[in-house]
Amino acid sequence: MMKTNFLNIAISFAVLGLFAAAISKSEKHSLIHPLIPRTGGPVIDSTDAATGLALDSNLPLVKAQCTGCHSPMLILQHRFTRDEWLSKIRWMQRNHKLWDLGESEKPVLDYLAKHYAPNQSAYSRREPLRNVKWYKLEK
Ligand code: HEC
Repeated sequence: MMKTNFLNIAISFAVLGLFAAAISKSEKHSLIHPLIPRTGGPVIDSTDAATGLALDSNLPLVKAQCTGCHSPMLILQHRFTRDEWLSKIRWMQRNHKLWDLGESEKPVLDYLAKHYAPNQSAYSRREPLRNVKWYKLEK
């Protein structure tokens, strides 16, 4: 009687351990944002697993200055020139209590302009079509 109880407990712990391992594995996985393409599309493996932001020596600075109030997705889903990024920062400073970035402003802008500029092939959509000759549908 005693022996089978011990066996049962031992087996239960083993099963629990397996579950815990499986759950911790799947949690690690979910840290990668679902909108960052993992298969298909351009292969982007040089991104930070926790935020999806491009890896770069200035990333820690950007994380500190730019991810406290909102999701990094707000950065990931935009493509701006350096001037446009600066005007977004000024807009947040005017309207959303973003602080003066001080000495960090330049490296933060360097980072944004480098990785999230318009027409960066690995990260961006294609350019809008120009001079398209549309045809009229005949009825
Ligand atoms: C003090 C809080 C705060 C910090 C820090 C902050 N933001 Fe924002 N940001 C906001 C708010 C509030 C909005 C508006 C969110 C919304 O519209 O839902 C916003 C919106 C944005 C948008 C969307 C702009 C648009 O046109 O819709 C971008 C891009 C952005 N932030 C980038 C950044 C970057 C880059 C940094 C780091 C320099 C940063 N944010 C730091 C508060 C902040």
